[in-house]
Amino acid sequence: MSDVLENPKIEVPHAIDLTRKAGLGTGPVPVEPYVSPEFYERERKLVFGRAWLNLGRIEQLPKANSYFVKPVEACNAQVLVTRNADGEIKAFHNVCSHRGAAVALEECGVRNRFTCRYHGWTYRNDGELIGVTDPDMFFDLDKKQLGLTPIACDVWEGWIFVNFQKRPEVSLIEFLGDLGEVFRGIPYMNTHQALIIEANFNANWKLIADAFAEGYHVSSLHPNTLAPSFSSDKNKFARPVGGRAWGAHRSVSTFGNMDYVTPENSKVERLANMNNGAIVLAGDTGEQAQKLLAHRAINQAKSAHWSADLTWLFPNFNIDFSPGGFWTHEFWPTAYNKTRWIARIYMPTATSWRDRLAQEHYAARWGEVVLEDVSNCERIQIGLESGAKDHIILQDGEFMIRHSLETINKWVNAKTVKEALS
Ligand code: FES
Ligand SMILES: [Fe+2]
Repeated sequence: MSDVLENPKIEVPHAIDLTRKAGLGTGPVPVEPYVSPEFYERERKLVFGRAWLNLGRIEQLPKANSYFVKPVEACNAQVLVTRNADGEIKAFHNVCSHRGAAVALEECGVRNRFTCRYHGWTYRNDGELIGVTDPDMFFDLDKKQLGLTPIACDVWEGWIFVNFQKRPEVSLIEFLGDLGEVFRGIPYMNTHQALIIEANFNANWKLIADAFAEGYHVSSLHPNTLAPSFSSDKNKFARPVGGRAWGAHRSVSTFGNMDYVTPENSKVERLANMNNGAIVLAGDTGEQAQKLLAHRAINQAKSAHWSADLTWLFPNFNIDFSPGGFWTHEFWPTAYNKTRWIARIYMPTATSWRDRLAQEHYAARWGEVVLEDVSNCERIQIGLESGAKDHIILQDGEFMIRHSLETINKWVNAKTVKEALS
């Protein structure tokens, strides 16, 4: 396990060797995992079919009998996640035992039972089959054996995970390892409401994830939106201020330019950021936000020049923190070169016009930044599929991408999950 890697006082991070300290190689990296349908088939079976996958947060099930449905195309599944009257959260395949129709047709709602629209079989939200229409016409029907098919489900710190192995080889806690321990007790805030951005791209899921994994691109891809506060004259290429690998998972702390001041002529930004200080990506600066920042997992090097932590849980989920709160990304493959991306930006309820303006500005800036990020990815997919290059090159600040690829490689070659995690 590597250590946190920066001296908090150093303003300009030098080569801090995140790559080697995370035990990774330094050579060129094959393009194949981004462009090969065969490789994707192995990922589906051996990564998405075996890893614990985040499907959402408990606040998406706000009361007894709440439910939501989430597609996981990589596993050919529609997952029905329910909270029953006892508060227990469970997951099932959204598939009727009679002839396979979907039992829940809405994306979310409140129901303690689900009646299949096709012939009216009814299931309780704990999965049990409780009603069959015209049962006398069936042969030896054993209702007890005909409940919804369960999917292993567990909750960590309010995050709901599922595992498609019939009997998961490792528990969620084992899967999260040291990261699960260090990130315990984070006071997640504003979890009841999120601005949700969802889009589909013609690009491999890892390319979309890679777009949110390093700061090296900030000065060239985000010259007007992020570069002024995420880089500086002394740190032009936004070298990170810390980072590390945690077993299959990883995080990086990005640089923040503490000298940034909103330009005189940026009237809206000036008005919107009155409370927020220097950092542009700030949705909340209240007391809760301060508590969040004090947690040991956040800005682990406690660098004075910090802007955000990008925390990438293997394989396809990010929880990212900034002085203004946190947001998440999900990267769901739907084909080897197609991805559904979902970002959730958690924000407080505005209680004044100024808060509201700050949030609108935050959301608009966020939208602008991520469009710059993701619009690039389809062009990369075309480039990589051209066959012009067999390999890509990664620098030290891009260590999370290398760690992702090396970890996936390990999983697609490992016979067991224990072996993949070793
Ligand atoms: S398929 Fe559901 S009741 Fe027939
Ligand atoms: Fe970016």
